[in-house]
Amino acid sequence: MSKKIGLIVGRENTFPQPFIDSVNARGRADGITAELATLGGAGELQIPEYSVIVDRISHEVPYYRAHMKSAALLGTAVINDPFWWNADEKFFECTLARKLGVAVPRTVVLPNKDYIPDIDQQRSLRNLRFPLDWEALVSYTGLPAVLKPNTGGGWKDVFIVGSLEELLRAYDSTGQKTMILQEFIDWQDYVRCICIAREHIMPIRYNPKAPFHERYVTHRPVEGRLRERAIADARTLVDALGYDMDTVEFAVRDDTLYAIDFLNPAPDFDNFSIKEDNFRWVLDRMTDLVLAYAKGQKKPPWRGQYRWWRYVKD
Ligand SMILES: Nc1ncnc2c1ncn2[C@@H]1O[C@H](COP(=O)(O)OP(=O)(O)O)[C@@H](O)[C@H]1O
Ligand SMILES: [Mg+2]
Repeated sequence: MSKKIGLIVGRENTFPQPFIDSVNARGRADGITAELATLGGAGELQIPEYSVIVDRISHEVPYYRAHMKSAALLGTAVINDPFWWNADEKFFECTLARKLGVAVPRTVVLPNKDYIPDIDQQRSLRNLRFPLDWEALVSYTGLPAVLKPNTGGGWKDVFIVGSLEELLRAYDSTGQKTMILQEFIDWQDYVRCICIAREHIMPIRYNPKAPFHERYVTHRPVEGRLRERAIADARTLVDALGYDMDTVEFAVRDDTLYAIDFLNPAPDFDNFSIKEDNFRWVLDRMTDLVLAYAKGQKKPPWRGQYRWWRYVKD
């Protein structure tokens, strides 16, 4: 029986066609084909068109996620888990990392600055401590500190604050976003790992201070013990989170790798940023993964894992 792999993408343009070509070339013998998925209004029990969906953009197009949750229940292997991606947040991930023995900067989560108009401080927020003890929070994280959204990406609303005044000024601009405040790691080295299928980890040197497309540094490979530790910690995190594609970022200070950002379930796969060798590596690993799912040789980590699965008959 023929099987289809669907790809859901935003503006990115270098990964989609080579990925589709790679799956088509290697899947043909087994009747597996790949294409850009077309979704639009499905009934609850409509048989999904795709055996596997690679989702690169449902965080920006919520309809896709609603559709994919249903498709997942009906048998589609969705990469990444649409249920968990919805729920995941940076502060939770920091707590999880600590429980798993992976170093993270000292972090606190902050009450929101603003609310929708129907919320008023006197009546609606009786469970919140006012005023916040900013001194105590900052004495935990130290200064400078990083104020950044609990969910989000693309370095939006990431502030490095050097004083309590700067922190309050930045916080006052954060509106309804939930923010975390984090120890600033004054790093000597920086590594980013591209992680596929929860097992294949490619550590690459990274320069966060360079313009976006020059950040992955390929002429100074990550080697030796640093490489081993980055791989081990990244694998621990992505396996626990169940992400089949992710990037995990580490700031290295003294002898410690601090996980900075590992909530990247639609990681940058553009060939001009990750560079050609890594791009080929990603294409191969992603192709292996979707073919294994399509052939039923592997099942998504979340299949059967939510409570409602136990009541669902195939
Ligand atoms: N605690 C920290 N210490 C040092 N640098 C940080 C810290 N948090 C964030 N940064 C810097 O800011 C960048 C953006 O933060 P990140 O958490 O990755 O946000 P986003 O999800 O928007 O990418 C990181 O790549 C890193 O260079
Ligand atoms: Mg990031």
